Formats: sequence, structure tokens, C-alpha cells
Amino acid sequence: MPTQTALWLPKEFGQYELATRDIGKPGPDEVLVKLMATAVNPLDWKIQEIGYFMIKDYPAVLGFEGAGIVEDVGENVIEHVKGDEVFFSGFMTNRHSTFQQYVIVLAVHAAKAYQAASIPVGLATAVDALYSPKPHGFAFTPPWEEGGRGKYKDRSIVVLGGASAVGQFGKLSNELAPSFFIQVARLSGFSPIITTASLHNTTLLTSLGATHVVDRHLPLSSLAQEVAKVTSTPTNLVFDAVATSETQQAGYDLLVSGGQIAVALPPTIQTKLEDDKQVLKMWGSFYPPEKREFGTRMYSQLTRMFAEAELVPLPVEVLPDGLNGIVAGLERLKNNLISGKKLIAHPWDTA
Ligand SMILES: NC(=O)c1ccc[n+]([C@@H]2O[C@H](COP(=O)([O-])OP(=O)(O)OC[C@H]3O[C@@H](n4cnc5c(N)ncnc54)[C@H](OP(=O)(O)O)[C@@H]3O)[C@@H](O)[C@H]2O)c1
Repeated sequence: MPTQTALWLPKEFGQYELATRDIGKPGPDEVLVKLMATAVNPLDWKIQEIGYFMIKDYPAVLGFEGAGIVEDVGENVIEHVKGDEVFFSGFMTNRHSTFQQYVIVLAVHAAKAYQAASIPVGLATAVDALYSPKPHGFAFTPPWEEGGRGKYKDRSIVVLGGASAVGQFGKLSNELAPSFFIQVARLSGFSPIITTASLHNTTLLTSLGATHVVDRHLPLSSLAQEVAKVTSTPTNLVFDAVATSETQQAGYDLLVSGGQIAVALPPTIQTKLEDDKQVLKMWGSFYPPEKREFGTRMYSQLTRMFAEAELVPLPVEVLPDGLNGIVAGLERLKNNLISGKKLIAHPWDTA
């Protein structure tokens, strides 16, 4: 059985280490991809430190977004052939995770494009928040469906943490930095798109579609006042890509009655029934069976949307020494030292 190098957690709460493991065979609907780039996400250090109920088996390979070259295809696959360059989201099993040199991917959830490992998680999370049915998302019509493009031009939205990978896609996945949320909100026509961020990210975020950037270092108690300087329209949509308990509560308090907030982490908001406000929790993965059809429709449009620059990948920084570099990269992510970009690693550069 051919083998490969992987980075895994040998046990729950263990330390990341290099390991040798078998290269899998794709199932009928899957492809085997030689991974040229994997992105690094906050979840990768949170699972190590806090644990996560969905990771049941150790040693566990993590890593949730990647890009590479198709090496082998399952018997039912018509979307890809050997040699295609693709990007995709990983999932929480050793076959489907991206901190390794080969990964198995559901063929309909891979889009053609190379070196786009910074896209999938941020984008998926943003898309889930804006377009998935409740309880995950706001259930708006996606821009790739008929009538969806520009449909919400009379609606404003506030994005907390627009410079995060999730925020920028507004995050078609995670390698996807900065702000997929803002990018997809722009395609849907939302205006104004008001976001909190460090002011040094203003040029980047306005180029992606934000109409106004509020300094995220101002006290959250001034958020309503800052938004009122931009628009007199009451806020009834907030997307919180930061999702600390403080930002969640500030976003919720900003909403008028009937408003909705989607949060990137488990909700901690103190709600009151009489508020008549909805709290939605998105999940940036389309792997679960009930979400696969929605994900398939999105992925079927991504190759064209990136080729025509309707969506752009996030700026990236390549970590040194392949998979080994991920450990120090995660430490920087944990300490909030990454701003407006995605960290990626090249698994074949591992010494
Ligand atoms: N639900 C899901 O499926 C899902 C998926 C992916 C991620 N997440 C979660 O979403 C969160 C963001 O993930 P990510 O990958 O987007 O992280 P990231 O790209 O590493 O986020 C870093 C950015 O967050 C911004 N930021 C930090 N604190 C802020 C604050 N108080 N106000 C405004 N902006 C702030 C910083 O912006 P500036 O540089 O402008 O200061 C920085 O650029 C994480 O907690 C992650 O675990 C959830």
C-alpha cells in the first residue's frame, strides 16, 4: 500500500506530529487529489485545545480546505479527470482532511482552479450564513440562482469582522480570506455593507464590496452610533464573523425588532422573547448529507465565478517547511497575529 506524510493529533488534546499513513482509494463518487496547498483555520487549534464532538477517532488528521491535482477518479465521476487542478473543503475524517499529501474529495464539491486553498471554508461559511435555509442562514436567494444577482439592493447589512476569512467571503470557505461574506453580499446587491475591521484593511475591504469600514478598535458601545452615521435605515441584518460573546451581544443589540443575526460560533447571546429577533448559527461545510445538494449547486458555479473574477481568493502567506510550518502558524492564529490574509502550507515542502 503506498504511503504519504501527514500531520496529525495522536490523541485528544495531544501535540501535532508528522506521521506516515496510507494513501486512500476514492469511492465511486470521489476523487483522489495530490494536495499542493492546504489552508489553516482557527478550528485546527480549537480542536487541539478544546476538543470537538465530531472528531471521534484518534490519531486525527485535521485541515479543512485545500487545492491540488486530481490523481485518480471514482467510477461514477464525470466532473473531473486526472490532471484537473481543483480546490475544495475538507471534512472531519482522516480520508477527507487536508493536513496531508493526498486527500479524498467528493467530486461534486471540488471546483476547478489551482492555488486556491484559501477559498473553501470562508466561502462556505459566508454562503451558509446568507443563503442556507434556517436555522443556519438567512435563506436569501443565492446570486447564482435565477433572480438572485443584485436582488437585495435596498437592504443594508452590518458585518462584524469583515477582514476575517469568513467575513471577506461573506467566506465561500476558509482558505478564503479576506472576506468572502462581503464579496457574496455585494453580488446579492446589499447596500450599504458596513463592516468593522482594523482601518489598515479599509482599501482591501472596500475593493471587495464593503461600502463603509468602522474601526473595530472603537468600543462596541459606540457601534449603533457609528452605523447611524452611515445610514438612517434601521439594522435588521447582522453577520458576526468574530463571534466573541461581546461582538455577538453588540450585534444582537444593534438589531431592530424582527431583525436577524448569524454568528460564526455557538451563540452566547442573552436573548429576550419580547425582542422578536432571530439568532442563526452557520456551519461552513456542505459535506453533511442534508446540505450536499445546496453545496453541489454552489460548487457548480465556482469555477466560472472565480475565472470571471466575480469572486477573488484571499491574500495568502505561505508557511515555511510544509506541514511542519502549520504548528507555528496555528500559534499565530490563536494569538490574533494574522490580519486580512490566509495562512497556507505546501505539504510537499515538508522536510
Ligand atoms: N461556523 C463555521 O462553520 C465557521 C467556519 C470558519 C470559521 N469559523 C469561526 O469564525 C471565526 C473567524 O474565523 P476566520 O477563519 O475568518 O478567522 P481569521 O481570518 O483568522 O480572523 C482574523 C481576523 O479577525 C478580525 N477580528 C478579530 N477580532 C475582531 C473584532 N473584535 N472585531 C472585528 N474584527 C476582528 C481581524 O481583523 P483586523 O485584521 O481588521 O483587525 C483579523 O483579520 C473563528 O472563531 C472561527 O473558529 C466558524
